[in-house]
Amino acid sequence: MNIVTARDLSKSYNSLLALDRVSFEITKGECFGFLGPNGAGKTTAMSIIYCYMPPTSGEVKVFGMDVTESPGEIKARLGVMPQDNNLDPDLSVFENLVVYAGYFDISKKAASGVAWELLDFVDLRDKAKVKITNLSGGMKRRLLLARALINGPEMLVLDEATTGLDPHSRHSVWEQLSHLRSKGMTLILTTHYMEEAEKLCDRVAIMDTSRILTIDTPTNLMNRHGGNLEEVYLKLAGRNLRE
Ligand SMILES: Nc1ncnc2c1ncn2[C@@H]1O[C@H](COP(=O)(O)OP(=O)(O)OP(=O)(O)O)[C@@H](O)[C@H]1O
Ligand SMILES: [Mg+2]
Repeated sequence: MNIVTARDLSKSYNSLLALDRVSFEITKGECFGFLGPNGAGKTTAMSIIYCYMPPTSGEVKVFGMDVTESPGEIKARLGVMPQDNNLDPDLSVFENLVVYAGYFDISKKAASGVAWELLDFVDLRDKAKVKITNLSGGMKRRLLLARALINGPEMLVLDEATTGLDPHSRHSVWEQLSHLRSKGMTLILTTHYMEEAEKLCDRVAIMDTSRILTIDTPTNLMNRHGGNLEEVYLKLAGRNLRE
Protein backbone atom coordinates (compact mmCIF):
# COMPACT_ATOMS: atom_id res chain seq x y z
CA MET A 1 0.00 0.00 0.00
CA ASN A 2 1.33 3.43 -0.93
CA ILE A 3 1.67 5.85 1.93
CA VAL A 4 3.09 8.62 -0.28
CA THR A 5 2.43 9.12 -3.99
CA ALA A 6 3.99 12.01 -5.89
CA ARG A 7 3.13 12.58 -9.54
CA ASP A 8 4.94 15.16 -11.67
CA LEU A 9 5.77 17.18 -8.58
CA SER A 10 7.39 20.55 -9.29
CA LYS A 11 8.37 23.29 -6.88
CA SER A 12 9.66 26.74 -7.79
CA TYR A 13 11.05 29.34 -5.43
CA ASN A 14 10.42 32.40 -7.58
CA SER A 15 12.56 31.78 -10.66
CA LEU A 16 14.45 28.81 -9.18
CA LEU A 17 13.10 25.39 -10.09
CA ALA A 18 13.94 23.23 -7.05
CA LEU A 19 11.92 20.18 -8.15
CA ASP A 20 11.25 19.42 -11.79
CA ARG A 21 8.40 16.95 -12.37
CA VAL A 22 9.52 14.24 -9.96
CA SER A 23 7.42 11.15 -9.36
CA PHE A 24 7.84 8.53 -6.65
CA GLU A 25 5.88 6.20 -4.43
CA ILE A 26 6.65 5.18 -0.88
CA THR A 27 5.00 2.07 0.52
CA LYS A 28 3.81 1.45 4.05
CA GLY A 29 6.53 0.17 6.35
CA GLU A 30 9.48 0.86 4.09
CA CYS A 31 12.49 3.02 4.74
CA PHE A 32 12.91 5.33 1.75
CA GLY A 33 15.94 7.57 1.33
CA PHE A 34 16.46 10.71 -0.74
CA LEU A 35 20.14 11.02 -1.63
CA GLY A 36 21.82 13.78 -3.57
CA PRO A 37 24.23 16.71 -3.47
CA ASN A 38 23.59 19.97 -1.62
CA GLY A 39 20.78 21.83 -3.34
CA ALA A 40 19.43 18.76 -5.19
CA GLY A 41 15.92 19.30 -3.78
CA LYS A 42 15.77 16.71 -1.00
CA THR A 43 14.56 19.03 1.76
CA THR A 44 12.12 20.62 -0.67
CA ALA A 45 10.60 17.22 -1.52
CA MET A 46 10.33 16.23 2.14
CA SER A 47 8.86 19.60 3.18
CA ILE A 48 6.07 19.11 0.67
CA ILE A 49 5.41 15.60 1.99
CA TYR A 50 5.08 16.89 5.56
CA CYS A 51 2.86 19.76 4.39
CA TYR A 52 5.23 22.55 5.33
CA MET A 53 4.67 24.11 1.91
CA PRO A 54 2.51 23.29 -1.09
CA PRO A 55 3.78 22.04 -4.47
CA THR A 56 3.85 24.51 -7.37
CA SER A 57 2.34 21.84 -9.61
CA GLY A 58 1.73 18.12 -9.65
CA GLU A 59 -0.03 15.92 -7.14
CA VAL A 60 1.19 14.62 -3.79
CA LYS A 61 -0.88 12.28 -1.67
CA VAL A 62 0.06 11.18 1.84
CA PHE A 63 -2.06 8.54 3.64
CA GLY A 64 -4.33 8.79 0.59
CA MET A 65 -5.00 12.51 1.18
CA ASP A 66 -3.91 15.44 -0.97
CA VAL A 67 -1.29 17.62 0.74
CA THR A 68 -3.00 20.81 -0.38
CA GLU A 69 -6.46 19.70 0.75
CA SER A 70 -5.81 17.95 4.08
CA PRO A 71 -2.56 19.23 5.60
CA GLY A 72 -3.94 19.16 9.16
CA GLU A 73 -5.00 15.50 9.04
CA ILE A 74 -1.72 14.49 7.43
CA LYS A 75 0.45 16.39 9.92
CA ALA A 76 -1.34 14.75 12.85
CA ARG A 77 -0.20 11.32 11.66
CA LEU A 78 3.46 11.99 10.99
CA GLY A 79 6.59 13.02 12.83
CA VAL A 80 9.16 15.40 11.42
CA MET A 81 12.81 15.89 12.22
CA PRO A 82 13.79 19.03 10.30
CA GLN A 83 17.25 19.72 8.90
CA ASP A 84 17.55 22.91 10.93
CA ASN A 85 17.15 22.99 14.70
CA ASN A 86 13.85 24.68 15.55
CA LEU A 87 13.73 23.82 19.25
CA ASP A 88 12.57 26.61 21.56
CA PRO A 89 15.83 27.95 23.04
CA ASP A 90 14.09 29.50 26.06
CA LEU A 91 12.60 26.22 27.25
CA SER A 92 14.17 23.17 28.84
CA VAL A 93 14.55 19.83 27.10
CA PHE A 94 11.50 18.41 28.87
CA GLU A 95 9.39 21.54 28.28
CA ASN A 96 10.19 21.43 24.58
CA LEU A 97 8.60 18.00 24.35
CA VAL A 98 5.52 18.84 26.40
CA VAL A 99 4.85 22.16 24.67
CA TYR A 100 5.23 20.51 21.26
CA ALA A 101 2.76 17.80 22.31
CA GLY A 102 0.25 20.60 22.91
CA TYR A 103 0.12 21.26 19.16
CA PHE A 104 -1.38 17.78 18.81
CA ASP A 105 -3.90 18.33 21.61
CA ILE A 106 -2.14 15.84 23.85
CA SER A 107 -2.85 16.58 27.51
CA LYS A 108 0.05 17.73 29.70
CA LYS A 109 -0.24 14.61 31.85
CA ALA A 110 -0.15 12.20 28.91
CA ALA A 111 2.61 14.21 27.26
CA SER A 112 4.77 14.13 30.33
CA GLY A 113 4.63 10.30 30.52
CA VAL A 114 5.55 9.98 26.85
CA ALA A 115 8.25 12.64 27.19
CA TRP A 116 10.11 10.65 29.85
CA GLU A 117 9.93 7.51 27.71
CA LEU A 118 11.28 9.41 24.72
CA LEU A 119 14.06 10.98 26.74
CA ASP A 120 15.14 7.47 27.71
CA PHE A 121 14.86 6.41 24.08
CA VAL A 122 17.36 9.10 23.01
CA ASP A 123 19.40 8.91 26.22
CA LEU A 124 18.69 12.46 27.40
CA ARG A 125 16.90 11.83 30.70
CA ASP A 126 19.69 13.45 32.70
CA LYS A 127 19.37 16.61 30.54
CA ALA A 128 15.60 16.99 31.07
CA LYS A 129 15.88 20.27 33.01
CA VAL A 130 18.66 21.76 30.91
CA LYS A 131 17.94 24.71 28.62
CA ILE A 132 18.35 24.11 24.88
CA THR A 133 21.13 26.68 24.64
CA ASN A 134 23.19 24.48 26.99
CA LEU A 135 22.93 21.32 24.88
CA SER A 136 25.59 20.14 22.47
CA GLY A 137 24.77 20.00 18.75
CA GLY A 138 24.37 16.23 18.77
CA MET A 139 22.09 16.35 21.82
CA LYS A 140 19.83 18.82 19.99
CA ARG A 141 19.60 16.38 17.06
CA ARG A 142 18.64 13.57 19.46
CA LEU A 143 16.01 15.76 21.12
CA LEU A 144 14.56 16.62 17.70
CA LEU A 145 14.21 12.88 17.05
CA ALA A 146 12.41 12.42 20.37
CA ARG A 147 10.12 15.37 19.60
CA ALA A 148 9.23 13.87 16.22
CA LEU A 149 7.83 10.83 18.04
CA ILE A 150 5.69 12.69 20.60
CA ASN A 151 2.39 12.20 18.73
CA GLY A 152 2.91 8.45 18.09
CA PRO A 153 3.28 8.96 14.32
CA GLU A 154 2.75 6.29 11.65
CA MET A 155 5.50 7.78 9.54
CA LEU A 156 8.70 9.65 10.32
CA VAL A 157 10.30 12.19 8.00
CA LEU A 158 13.95 12.65 8.93
CA ASP A 159 15.99 15.35 7.24
CA GLU A 160 19.63 14.48 7.94
CA ALA A 161 18.85 12.86 11.29
CA THR A 162 22.45 11.88 12.00
CA THR A 163 24.36 14.91 10.69
CA GLY A 164 26.67 16.14 13.43
CA LEU A 165 26.33 13.05 15.60
CA ASP A 166 29.38 11.29 17.01
CA PRO A 167 29.86 7.68 15.85
CA HIS A 168 28.31 6.14 18.97
CA SER A 169 25.27 8.40 18.80
CA ARG A 170 24.93 7.74 15.07
CA HIS A 171 24.97 4.00 15.61
CA SER A 172 22.45 4.34 18.38
CA VAL A 173 20.13 6.38 16.12
CA TRP A 174 20.51 3.68 13.44
CA GLU A 175 19.44 1.10 16.01
CA GLN A 176 16.50 3.23 17.10
CA LEU A 177 15.36 3.74 13.52
CA SER A 178 15.70 0.02 12.74
CA HIS A 179 13.66 -0.71 15.83
CA LEU A 180 10.91 1.72 14.77
CA ARG A 181 10.87 0.19 11.31
CA SER A 182 10.62 -3.32 12.72
CA LYS A 183 7.47 -2.14 14.51
CA GLY A 184 5.96 -1.13 11.15
CA MET A 185 6.74 2.56 11.00
CA THR A 186 7.37 4.09 7.58
CA LEU A 187 10.60 6.10 7.42
CA ILE A 188 11.56 8.75 4.88
CA LEU A 189 15.03 10.10 5.32
CA THR A 190 17.82 12.06 3.74
CA THR A 191 21.45 11.54 4.52
CA HIS A 192 24.87 12.33 3.11
CA TYR A 193 26.26 9.15 4.69
CA MET A 194 26.03 6.40 2.11
CA GLU A 195 26.82 3.78 4.74
CA GLU A 196 23.71 4.90 6.59
CA ALA A 197 21.55 4.68 3.47
CA GLU A 198 22.94 1.25 2.66
CA LYS A 199 22.24 0.03 6.19
CA LEU A 200 18.78 1.51 6.69
CA CYS A 201 17.04 2.10 3.38
CA ASP A 202 14.91 -0.43 1.53
CA ARG A 203 14.97 1.89 -1.49
CA VAL A 204 16.72 5.13 -2.34
CA ALA A 205 16.05 7.91 -4.81
CA ILE A 206 19.27 9.43 -6.10
CA MET A 207 18.63 13.07 -6.95
CA ASP A 208 20.58 15.78 -8.69
CA THR A 209 19.61 19.36 -9.54
CA SER A 210 15.84 19.07 -9.07
CA ARG A 211 15.46 15.67 -10.73
CA ILE A 212 15.38 12.05 -9.60
CA LEU A 213 18.06 10.11 -11.47
CA THR A 214 17.02 6.66 -10.28
CA ILE A 215 14.97 4.86 -7.63
CA ASP A 216 15.93 1.35 -6.58
CA THR A 217 17.13 -0.82 -3.71
CA PRO A 218 20.74 -0.25 -2.67
CA THR A 219 21.46 -3.91 -3.57
CA ASN A 220 20.10 -3.58 -7.11
CA LEU A 221 22.03 -0.35 -7.65
CA MET A 222 25.25 -1.90 -6.39
CA ASN A 223 24.76 -5.02 -8.54
CA ARG A 224 24.04 -2.93 -11.61
CA HIS A 225 26.90 -0.46 -11.24
CA GLY A 226 29.44 -2.35 -9.13
CA GLY A 227 31.04 -1.09 -5.92
CA ASN A 228 29.33 0.08 -2.77
CA LEU A 229 26.51 2.63 -2.60
CA GLU A 230 28.93 5.54 -2.23
CA GLU A 231 30.63 4.55 -5.48
CA VAL A 232 27.27 4.22 -7.25
CA TYR A 233 26.25 7.60 -5.89
CA LEU A 234 29.46 9.30 -7.06
CA LYS A 235 29.08 7.74 -10.49
CA LEU A 236 25.48 8.89 -11.00
CA ALA A 237 24.99 12.06 -8.97
CA GLY A 238 28.29 13.73 -9.70
CA ARG A 239 27.61 13.62 -13.41
CA ASN A 240 23.86 14.11 -13.22
CA LEU A 241 23.44 10.82 -15.09
CA ARG A 242 19.87 9.64 -15.38
CA GLU A 243 19.55 5.86 -15.42
N1 LIG B 1 13.09 28.90 0.97
C1 LIG B 1 13.80 28.93 -0.17
N2 LIG B 1 13.77 30.01 -0.98
C2 LIG B 1 14.45 30.04 -2.13
N3 LIG B 1 15.21 29.02 -2.60
C3 LIG B 1 15.26 27.91 -1.85
C4 LIG B 1 14.58 27.82 -0.59
N4 LIG B 1 14.83 26.59 -0.07
C5 LIG B 1 15.64 25.97 -0.94
N5 LIG B 1 15.90 26.75 -2.00
C6 LIG B 1 16.71 26.37 -3.18
O1 LIG B 1 16.15 25.20 -3.73
C7 LIG B 1 17.16 24.28 -4.12
C8 LIG B 1 16.95 22.96 -3.38
O2 LIG B 1 17.17 23.17 -2.00
P1 LIG B 1 16.95 22.02 -0.92
O3 LIG B 1 17.03 22.67 0.41
O4 LIG B 1 15.72 21.26 -1.25
O5 LIG B 1 18.23 21.11 -1.20
P2 LIG B 1 18.77 19.81 -0.45
O6 LIG B 1 18.85 18.72 -1.45
O7 LIG B 1 17.99 19.55 0.77
O8 LIG B 1 20.27 20.25 -0.08
P3 LIG B 1 21.18 19.97 1.25
O9 LIG B 1 21.86 18.66 1.04
O10 LIG B 1 22.17 21.10 1.21
O11 LIG B 1 20.31 20.03 2.45
C9 LIG B 1 18.50 24.95 -3.84
O12 LIG B 1 18.95 25.55 -5.04
C10 LIG B 1 18.15 26.02 -2.81
O13 LIG B 1 19.00 27.14 -2.94
MG1 LIG C 1 18.40 19.63 2.78
